[in-house]
This record gives sequence, C-alpha cells and structure tokens, in this order.
Amino acid sequence: MKTFYIETFGCQMNAHDSEKVVGTLLQEGYTQVDRPDQAELVLYNTCSIRDKAEQKVFSRLQQFKREAGKGKVFGVLGCVAQQEGERIFERAPHVSLVAGSASYTKLPDLLVQLEAGNRRVTGLSLDTNETFDTPYTRRDNPHRAYITIIEGCDKSCAYCVVPFTRGPERSRTSESVLREAASLAELGYTEIQLLGQNVNSYRDPSPAGWDFARLLDETGKTPGIRRVRFTTSHPRDFVKGIVEAIDGNSALCNHVHLPVQSGSTSVLSRMQRLYTRDDYMRRIEWMKNARRSIAITTDIIVGFPGETEQDFKETVRLAEEVEYDSMFIFKYSKRPNTPALEYEDHIPEEEKTRRLMILQELQRAIQIRRNAAYVGTIEEAHVEGYNTATGQWIGRTAQNKTLNFIDAELPGPAEGRTLTGTYADILVTRAGPNSLAGEHIASTMNNGPGRAV
Ligand code: 5AD
Ligand code: SF4
Repeated sequence: MKTFYIETFGCQMNAHDSEKVVGTLLQEGYTQVDRPDQAELVLYNTCSIRDKAEQKVFSRLQQFKREAGKGKVFGVLGCVAQQEGERIFERAPHVSLVAGSASYTKLPDLLVQLEAGNRRVTGLSLDTNETFDTPYTRRDNPHRAYITIIEGCDKSCAYCVVPFTRGPERSRTSESVLREAASLAELGYTEIQLLGQNVNSYRDPSPAGWDFARLLDETGKTPGIRRVRFTTSHPRDFVKGIVEAIDGNSALCNHVHLPVQSGSTSVLSRMQRLYTRDDYMRRIEWMKNARRSIAITTDIIVGFPGETEQDFKETVRLAEEVEYDSMFIFKYSKRPNTPALEYEDHIPEEEKTRRLMILQELQRAIQIRRNAAYVGTIEEAHVEGYNTATGQWIGRTAQNKTLNFIDAELPGPAEGRTLTGTYADILVTRAGPNSLAGEHIASTMNNGPGRAV
C-alpha cells in the first residue's frame, strides 16, 4: 500500500494540515495520486463546523464503499474524526483510520499499524501540548504559504465544535515561526498567512514571551516577504497593538477578519463570546481611525437559539454601521456537545433563511458601493493565475479583494512567460459586488521577491 489520495474540507487550518499530512506521507514513501480510485489509501480531512460539512464526508465514504474489500484503505482525519471518534467505524465500517489533528505527529506510527494490516487504527487523544511542526510540509502554492502559529482553542463559544475537535491552545515559539518564514522566503515565497483558530491569543512559550502583535510585526520584517496575512481573530483578544503594527509595517496586509457573530449584546452573551456590541465597535473604531485603510470582514450567525427579531435588527444595524468589505453569513447549525444544543427557542429553518437573505441583500449593496470607490485608483495585485474562460489574470490586493485584470503586453501565459507570482500595479476600471477589474500598468516582476517597486 503506497499510493494515497487526500481530499480536504473546511478552513485554512485544515488545508494547511493536509499540506503537512501530504509531506509526512511522501516522507514515509507514499506517492500521491489525483483520484480516489487510483489510491490504495484514501484520506478525507474533514470539517464539522456545521452539519452540512459533516454530512459531506459520510456521503463521500459511501461512494467508494464497495472497493474497501479490494485492498483499499480508508481514513478519516480532522474535525469529524475527532468529534465522532470510534463511532465512525460504526457509521462507515470500511474505515480503518480515524485521527484528529492533535494526533498528526503520530501519523508515521499510525501508518505502520495500517500497513501491518490493522483494521482499526485511531489517534484521538486531545491531551497534548504538541504542535504539528514538520519539515516535510508539501505546499500547494509556490508563492503564498501558510504558517501555523497556534493550534487549538480555549474559548467556549456556545455554538462551536472547535474546542472539542482541535483541543487546547498551544502556541509555537516565535523563533520557530520566524525560522519557517525565513526559509519560505528563501524558497521564493513572498506572501505568508499566519494561521490559528484564534491568532490573537498567541503567547510565545519561549522566554521572549512575544504577543501576537509583536510576532506579526517581526514576521513582516522577514527579508523577501512582501505580504503577511493572519486569520482568525477573536474580538475579545484583538488589541490595539495589532492595528498599530499594521499601520507601522507596510508588509502587513491591511485586512482584518474579525468575526462578530451577532450585533446584539444579549445574543453575544448567550453565545459566550466574552464581548459586548460596544466592545466590538471600539475595535472597529481603532481600525477606521488607522492611518492605512484597513479592509474589515466578518462572520455572522443568524438564527442562534432565542435570537429575536429585535436582536436580528441589531445585527442588521451593526452591518450598516461597519460597512464590511465582505461577510460570511451562516444559519445556526446544531452541533454535538455544544451548550447551545440545550438552549430553548430554536429558530425555524425558514426564519433563519429569511434573516440570511435580508443580510445578504444588504451586504451586497454595501459591497457594490464600497468597491465602486476603487474605480480610478491603482491597486497592487499579487497575481495568482490566469482565467482562460475570461481571458483575465487573477490577482488579489493586500485588502484581500479579488482583482482581475488584462495585460496588453502579456494577454496570457506564453512561451514560459507568466505573471503568476508577481506583483502588478493595476488601474481599477470596473467594480462589482465581489471583485474589481482593471488594466495592468506596471509590474514588479523583474525586481525579484521582496524588493520595492
Ligand atoms: N452554526 C453556524 N455557523 C457556525 N460557525 C461556527 N459554528 C457554527 C454553527 N454551529 C460559523 C462562525 C464562525 C465560522 C467559521 O463558522 O460564524 O466564525
Ligand atoms: Fe471546520 Fe472548524 Fe475544523 Fe476548520 S477547525 S475544519 S472550520 S470544524
């Protein structure tokens, strides 16, 4: 058994975990294949944030069930694995491996057990202070790289599975984070995304004792690194020092994803979010008063148990006040083990849908208005690729807006020439609700990574 296939669901933490899992498997002598039917080991790295995400993996597992007898081995990794544990063997008896992210350091051992023909192999302990640092990460993107700075979550939001699926918070040393950033820069990466379920509660375990703002700032000083992003922030731990760091260091992207979840203090309290609407709005003020223009995005849950029409209207008002650059809106989904499951006054599905659509419509209008303000300005795009269907290059601004553009000199990739991976100055000529479009006026492609225009 030496070929494997992996499919990843969920957030960027999961995407990056898969990169580490792939690196580890390659190191163990496995070969990656593109299709599950070609693989001897089929892995699903799963998400359980909402019920729909969880259902996906079980429907995937059904697809290839009949092949299990023919020597194909199935493994479930990630958040559903941790949450469901050995119950997965009952729901899908052809699965042989179940391991949560806190056990990935043990993957080589688990693989040995699988290869020995063991039919039920598990890695489910959450009792760990380890982080999954591996030199074998196989990154999917040659220009933009993830770095995990903190794993797990110590908060206990009433709706959320993450504390149960990713275990307690553990931070990496600042030294190992900066070393990884420097080695990525040497490999030619110019953009880094610092990852954690709650990056703001980062605490350097080494004597240096850096907080997140310091780590962010120092990462941004890595020679060769032009952009540093970070996700996700919890408002409670979001301090002014982060805004000051962004203001003082142009390598730090002027974009903050700050999930509010609700605009009603009473809902926030029942969500156990540990901040009020006013606390949140103070953080928004810090960003609006910054020297740089900081794009702000958020997550909102509609239809949390007990959310009244009045509560919902407060969320709508908050969205109008903040005018987010983008917003992910979710209908509340019941999750196992979470306190909110036991709450009263669950909201009917149609009502959740109604609230979702009201917010979506409002947000669309806000985005049209906000994005229109960019027309006529020059924005720097980090070029991610080329879209053959539209004949446009695909880029992303530091504010995390998609910026598609045309280039008169290089209308598409040709004879080994490409703009992918370069930074290009784009005159914005059009704007829609979800993206900007423009024309390439200058490129820093020959300047090499990390150098100024
Ligand atoms: N139901 C709906 N949305 C949820 N989220 C987390 N848990 C749930 C749930 N039970 C949303 C939150 C979070 C985002 C990643 O997913 O908005 O910020
Ligand atoms: Fe999904 Fe949350 Fe797990 Fe990420 S941490 S994969 S969003 S459940």
